Amino acid sequence: MAPSSQKLLSENVPCTPSSAGRFDIGVILGDCGIEPTVERHNAAADAISWPLIDYSSCPPTDDQIAINRWLTHASLAGKRILHVGAGNSSLASLLADKVGAIVAVTVSVDELRHAQMLDLPGYTPLLMNKHGEAFANAFDARSFDYIVDNNLSSFACCQKHFERYFAAIAEALAEDGVILTHWLGMRWVLDVGVDDVEPAWLLDERKLRTIATAFGLRLDSDGDVFFMRHADRSSGS
Ligand SMILES: C[S@@+](CC[C@H](N)C(=O)[O-])C[C@H]1O[C@@H](n2cnc3c(N)ncnc32)[C@H](O)[C@@H]1O
Repeated sequence: MAPSSQKLLSENVPCTPSSAGRFDIGVILGDCGIEPTVERHNAAADAISWPLIDYSSCPPTDDQIAINRWLTHASLAGKRILHVGAGNSSLASLLADKVGAIVAVTVSVDELRHAQMLDLPGYTPLLMNKHGEAFANAFDARSFDYIVDNNLSSFACCQKHFERYFAAIAEALAEDGVILTHWLGMRWVLDVGVDDVEPAWLLDERKLRTIATAFGLRLDSDGDVFFMRHADRSSGS
């Protein structure tokens, strides 16, 4: 008789229950046991024919466009933006000459090269896995006014590494800063058969609020755009 998937999990993966983490949204895999690197998601991308990780020659997704549009109405002069998931650098192309600085993170070498070739003022693209140790140590506390990630949990390998990522962006967020994400990206997870993401990572408002609260953030929304701010601040832009 084939062993159950639960048994396989416990035999092959150092799995701690997610309830031991900072929040519980029904994720099973507490710790994937593999340090997240840039190569890890590229392996998934190699297994399929449509663009997944390399969006350097794709137009921005609808959720990225909506966030970009929201930012064009925000206070921008001198502000610092962290863009997680650079894609074709649509955000930097739109805003680089209006803000203080933009740092973008990608796991795609082609997205990195594309970003570098644009040579935009104050734009620093970085090749880095957001779930990795290097990302967690990359930025000063309170150093970004806006942090943009339209795929917050779409590529989550496990609760431990997602929590490391979320702790890092909460720490890097300025006192009156805003983390922006979008409903469309909340409702999409990587499920192409290689390194699949658990369906529990599909976010809704309740789950995102549970996560935000665990990291001292308050959740608000405007249509399909979702905002997280430090909870001890009464209001923000
Ligand atoms: C679906 S594309 C979206 C690109 C862009 N944000 C947009 O919406 O047009 C996913 C992006 O996330 C990046 N990405 C995926 N997993 C990542 C990870 N673990 N760390 C950093 N970036 C990641 C990819 O390199 C790519 O830029």
